[in-house]
Amino acid sequence: MITTDVQIKHYTTFGISAKVKQFATFSSVEELRQLLAKKPVEMPLMILGGGSNVLFTQDFDGLMLKNELLGFEITEKIGDDVFVKAGAGENWHSFVIRTINLNLGGLENLSLIPGSVGASPMQNIGAYGREIKDVFHSLEAYHLPTGEVHTFTNQQCEFGYRESVFKRKFKNQYVILNVTYKLSKKHQLNTSYGAINEQLEAMGVENPTIKDVSNAVIAIRSSKLPNPKELGNAGSFFKNPVIDKKLYDNLVSEYPDMPNYPVNAETVKVPAGWLIEKSGWKGKVVGNCGVHKNQALVLINYGNASGKEVFELSENIIQAIQTKFGIVLEREVNIV
Ligand code: FAD
Ligand code: EPU
Repeated sequence: MITTDVQIKHYTTFGISAKVKQFATFSSVEELRQLLAKKPVEMPLMILGGGSNVLFTQDFDGLMLKNELLGFEITEKIGDDVFVKAGAGENWHSFVIRTINLNLGGLENLSLIPGSVGASPMQNIGAYGREIKDVFHSLEAYHLPTGEVHTFTNQQCEFGYRESVFKRKFKNQYVILNVTYKLSKKHQLNTSYGAINEQLEAMGVENPTIKDVSNAVIAIRSSKLPNPKELGNAGSFFKNPVIDKKLYDNLVSEYPDMPNYPVNAETVKVPAGWLIEKSGWKGKVVGNCGVHKNQALVLINYGNASGKEVFELSENIIQAIQTKFGIVLEREVNIV
């Protein structure tokens, strides 16, 4: 059922007021087809999952469809590999925990990321040394121009750091319906992200299981990242910039303590959180919004911020970082 002029504040983790002209949920492909058939051709369309990576800077004068496609199925087992297919509307963290409880390894480092399964390939979600591309097998997506369902392999998704084909050449062309992951009964733990080992040690764990790694990640995340139920936010607001090695060499001579992650011979990734903190923005409150006091990469809505206010804050941060470091930050959050 389509409802009109809907307030979507509580459909996003930023908790920012915005109205949507038409709103409906769908829990089957058939329902999706029927809703799309009613949409005037010129009317814009937006698919919403958990609303944890969007910032509304204005009302949306179109049709918003909230994905509620459920489903969890083991589709195939080959040796130690187990293929698990989940509906795009499944909650991501619940899905991860379900796979861990089945003793299937691969997603444990990605515990507690908010949002839906269907959005996970959009930006190739990543955390604590893993990205979904490491275990992604395939997805099925509804092609809006033709109404056909197309399958995408890992390679066809063209995953990159917080990137996929769905944010680039196929932007707004597909509705992701389900995702299949290749998990494993033979666990290959990745605890290379320093803080995980420290946390496991603090928890007194000597021979960690996938459940232990998941618990460690949950503990680290809970200590650093604000809970959207208490403080509106969308996680990292910016991507960590990948900069030219020459610029990096110049900067590191001036700032020897700058953390860095070499990407290849020509480029280095540097943490935007560090750049923002070094520029004096960490913990700053500007009107109804601000920069989180524990994680400078996270912008916060302190209750009544407008999307425009948060966007303006992000503009000011981008300018400050460009002036100080010669680096142009790119937003990770999807701006509407
Ligand atoms: P939404 O915000 O609903 O949508 C995001 C985009 O994807 C929109 O453009 C939407 O139109 C599109 N979309 C959603 N579903 C579909 C679909 N089925 N088909 C087509 N398009 C679709 N991200 C990380 O990568 N790593 C982290 O560690 C991380 N930590 C976070 C911590 C916090 C506290 C928060 C609030 C966010 C964090 N995020 C992180 C960002 C966010 O959780 C992810 O980007 C997540 O995948 C978004 O899922 P969602 O369902 O909420 O997407
Ligand atoms: N740092 C600071 N000050 C800060 C924040 C970070 O100096 O205020 C420094 C830290 O000391 C550390 C480095 O920056 O040396 C990296 O910090 P952290 O480990 O907290 O990770 P991040 O780079 O800030 C990225 C992802 C997160 C993901 C974590 C853990 C991006 C844009 N963000 O953050 O993803 O959870 O690593 O892997 O890549 C998200 O995408 O929404 C998100 C939360």
